[in-house]
Amino acid sequence: MSVPIVLIVAVADNGVIGRDNTLIWRLRSDLQRFKALTLGKPMVMGRKTFQSIGKPLPGRETIVVTRDASFRPEGVFTAPSLEEALALAQSRAAALGADAVPVVGGGEIYRQAMPLAERIYLTRVHCQPDGDTYFPDPDPAAFVADLPEAHPAGEHDQFAFTFVDYTRRPATKGHG
Ligand SMILES: NC(=O)c1ccc[n+]([C@@H]2O[C@H](COP(=O)([O-])OP(=O)(O)OC[C@H]3O[C@@H](n4cnc5c(N)ncnc54)[C@H](OP(=O)(O)O)[C@@H]3O)[C@@H](O)[C@H]2O)c1
Repeated sequence: MSVPIVLIVAVADNGVIGRDNTLIWRLRSDLQRFKALTLGKPMVMGRKTFQSIGKPLPGRETIVVTRDASFRPEGVFTAPSLEEALALAQSRAAALGADAVPVVGGGEIYRQAMPLAERIYLTRVHCQPDGDTYFPDPDPAAFVADLPEAHPAGEHDQFAFTFVDYTRRPATKGHG
């Protein structure tokens, strides 16, 4: 029995998720949610996202997808394909007793992992920034949205935001 793959993403109202390999906003409330959703779990991310974070995050394992066999940063696993990263994540999830494999970006990795995801934890960030990396709206034929949870910007949040979680519809794996 495999552990479900979940995407965790913060997306502007216009679909932008990044620019110049950086995050565009400061949202402490979303970072707290990200932490709660990933602690104790093996996270899968693309090489560019790992470089934009710059280090392994404490309390979770990091699996970096890269075709560059010489890319071997300390404190993370690397995998030469998404398939191998997800296979490693499954075995690490079993070892850790984790109930999900979070896929945390960026754009290239989300695109490839979306058809495999059981859930999407999406934070809609209410702004319209310029950017170069995008996340598409989940396909309503493949995913059903929970009730959105709207939040005004907190003291340490640059923008208001809404949490919208999506669950895959039965028998649609491979779509979306
Ligand atoms: N808003 C959010 O929630 C969020 C979350 C994460 C990231 N981001 C943003 O997203 C942007 C980065 O996204 P991105 O699309 O440019 O890059 P990315 O998905 O983070 O990484 C792309 C890299 O991953 C590796 N890769 C991708 N597919 C692969 C495969 N099938 N097999 C082997 N390696 C593979 C390649 O690394 P090599 O070139 O080393 O082979 C590729 O260059 C940044 O701006 C970041 O801030 C936003």
